[in-house]
Amino acid sequence: MGAMVKSTLTSPPLPPLGSSAARVGSSAIRDLLALAERPEVISLAGGLPDARTFPVDALAAAAADALADDPGATLQYGPTEGDPQLRDLVAHRLGADRANVTITSGAQQALQLVARAVLDPGDVVALADPAYVGALQAFRSADARLAPLPSDHHGLQVQALVELIDAGTVPSLVYVTSSFDNPTGATLAGQRRVALAELAEEHGFWIVDDDPYGELRWAGSAPTPLRELTDRTIVLGSTSKILSPGLRVGWASAPVELSRAIVVLKQSTDLHTSALSQQIVRRALGDEPAMATHLAILRSAYQRQAGALADALDRHLPGALRFGRPDGGMFLWAELAPHVAADASADQLLERALACGTAFVPGSAFAVEPTGGHRRRLRLSFATATEEELDEAARRLAGALALG
Ligand SMILES: Cc1ncc(COP(=O)(O)O)c(C=O)c1O
Repeated sequence: MGAMVKSTLTSPPLPPLGSSAARVGSSAIRDLLALAERPEVISLAGGLPDARTFPVDALAAAAADALADDPGATLQYGPTEGDPQLRDLVAHRLGADRANVTITSGAQQALQLVARAVLDPGDVVALADPAYVGALQAFRSADARLAPLPSDHHGLQVQALVELIDAGTVPSLVYVTSSFDNPTGATLAGQRRVALAELAEEHGFWIVDDDPYGELRWAGSAPTPLRELTDRTIVLGSTSKILSPGLRVGWASAPVELSRAIVVLKQSTDLHTSALSQQIVRRALGDEPAMATHLAILRSAYQRQAGALADALDRHLPGALRFGRPDGGMFLWAELAPHVAADASADQLLERALACGTAFVPGSAFAVEPTGGHRRRLRLSFATATEEELDEAARRLAGALALG
């Protein structure tokens, strides 16, 4: 091995970052989570699923079975598109064909690959503001121009997209999280889906429907999926919120030509998604009765926890926070009532909340424009805390607001 050349005070500085890396910046959520990780903090800030729900025994059995029965598929390099049987399973769930489906390393990689496959620098991506931070990062790293649109408890306000288009800006892509959005928890209403699909057909843009939470519904009925309304829909999915995020298995379902482009881009990224993870997921998803039981357990756990958080907020902070009761997903999106800490932003409140031993993510972390939007909003995750912890977190939050 050659001697390492030591940097000295007179060495020139390290080369600058490439423009893609420089554009992305850091995730506000990640920075905040670092503060919330202290053991005494009951954090409602994370976006993680509840580790108590991981089907450990089933996944261990699936791993053992994969290694014993099919070591070739489990330990060898595999096809970039993904394991054929897993692609069939995903295609079946989505009413698509195997050729449409690419298995990816989480929905996050699917987002990144789709952004690179369909966008040129300067192309417009329209999306609800606030938005999932990972989507903002993926679109920014493709040098897209982001067109933020308002949203409410029925999701993206599609009328605002009509106005954007009428004013002369036709996006290349519209990004939605159609079910139980991160951070707002909103589900895109049926009529808005129809209107969005019609606009996509008329103006020729892609719709990316990022849907990792759709299976976590415990109340109400799901509107028609966008993919059934227009074949301009690219569906992104994931096992992160229904099995385990550490497996890093997700997918993109897209028209065949686009799927081919996604596969070429994926090849240069990681060759393929972990073969062991794919074999585990293939077995877990393929066992339909066990999966149905697991999903039922997951939904009822989250339903209980969502109810416990909403009840605790009503109990400890009556009238101080405005929110709707979630009927699925992992998040409760709340707004400070005007009379509460009238001049304070949620960012300032977070500092006080951390001092009182709890944490949430302030709305500004999800703002598309860095103009301090959503400054009186809070994303509260009910996924990982126990019912007792949720009650105590609400009590501490009341203390932070000087209501306790
Ligand atoms: C809306 C949304 N899309 C994508 C992801 C990334 O999921 P994955 O773990 O499958 O990469 C998340 C994770 O929190 C998310 O909330």
